[in-house]
Amino acid sequence: MPYSKIAALGHYVPEQVVTNAYLSTLMDTSDEWITERTGIKERRWIDPAKDTVANMSAKATRMALERAGLKEKDIEFIVFATITPDYFFPGSGVLLQRELGLEGIGALDIRNACSGFIYALSVADQYIKTGMYKTILVVGAEIQSTALDVTTRGRNTAVIFGDGAGVAILQAADKPGILSTHLHADGRFAEELYVRDPGSSRPREERQPEQILDTTHYKVVMNGNQVFKHAVTRFTEAIEEALQANNLRKDDISLLIPHQANLRISQFIQQKMELSDSQVYNNIMRYGNTTAASIPIAMSEAWAEGKIKENDLICLAAFGSGFTWASALLRW
Ligand code: UT7
Repeated sequence: MPYSKIAALGHYVPEQVVTNAYLSTLMDTSDEWITERTGIKERRWIDPAKDTVANMSAKATRMALERAGLKEKDIEFIVFATITPDYFFPGSGVLLQRELGLEGIGALDIRNACSGFIYALSVADQYIKTGMYKTILVVGAEIQSTALDVTTRGRNTAVIFGDGAGVAILQAADKPGILSTHLHADGRFAEELYVRDPGSSRPREERQPEQILDTTHYKVVMNGNQVFKHAVTRFTEAIEEALQANNLRKDDISLLIPHQANLRISQFIQQKMELSDSQVYNNIMRYGNTTAASIPIAMSEAWAEGKIKENDLICLAAFGSGFTWASALLRW
């Protein structure tokens, strides 16, 4: 049975930089509050005239293809993680497939929010291990800015989320690159972090224009304290589970790339696991929380900065809406 490894990484973030100072002109917030509670200094927002989830992903894919010396036609399958597809349906996988001119290949969408990229990586890893495909494009991409409530009413979420896309090209290999993936979910907490509408299970009368404007539509509801508490526990459990499954210790981790939810969450995990600064990668300061895109963007940047080297042990971990959480261990 073949193994799978990441052959290349790529990312794209929109040009428009949105600072905490700018957000303070839209709502009652401050650079001080946002920095202290989340570590975020700025994030990127798309220009709706230019960017889509699919074309941002295509740009990230082209970066990865170029780095790997591959061509579009080498991609045999797409696994696309997003909770903010360009259309309610079809999913973003088919739109990216069209952008890349790959008509005919399969495209699968995954909706596991912040854990989406690791779930997607896990699916692609299994397809490669069974021999079904040899080269799979794994994507995490989100446009969240267009749905944020940028008034004081929405400030507990509007300051956190950002836009961007990241990809990994997964290929068959003769020695293990992806050592393991572990996936978890607990739906009892679904409503602690969710967007209710456009959901399907409400009567037609609830879908009148005034109710849509009144805005349960796309409104992110988050019980921040509850999410934070579960996150710090589940992140650590998922990392420890991955280490145990591979008979490895936390000292063996060359680089932990946690989902960029909140710098305070990353710091908490680092402290709890007694990892050094050089063992943990964070870029939330510049991009905010880009949900499914955060891990591939961070991995792509870390690689470009020379922080991921041959034979390194890379640990990915995520927690988010669902609740879902997951980890992956990779030998580079
Ligand atoms: O990707 C996974 C998904 N999300 C997460 O992992 C998020 C996890 N949770 C968090 O990161 C934190 O809970 C937040 C950063 C979202 C919030 O921080 P917090 O320390 O839990 O604040 P809080 O919600 O308890 O609110 C404290 C105060 C409240 O005011 P009062 O009631 O004490 O007067 C809020 O109204 O801060 C207020 N507040 C704000 N003030 C200024 C909430 N948002 C803002 C804001 N600017 N943007």
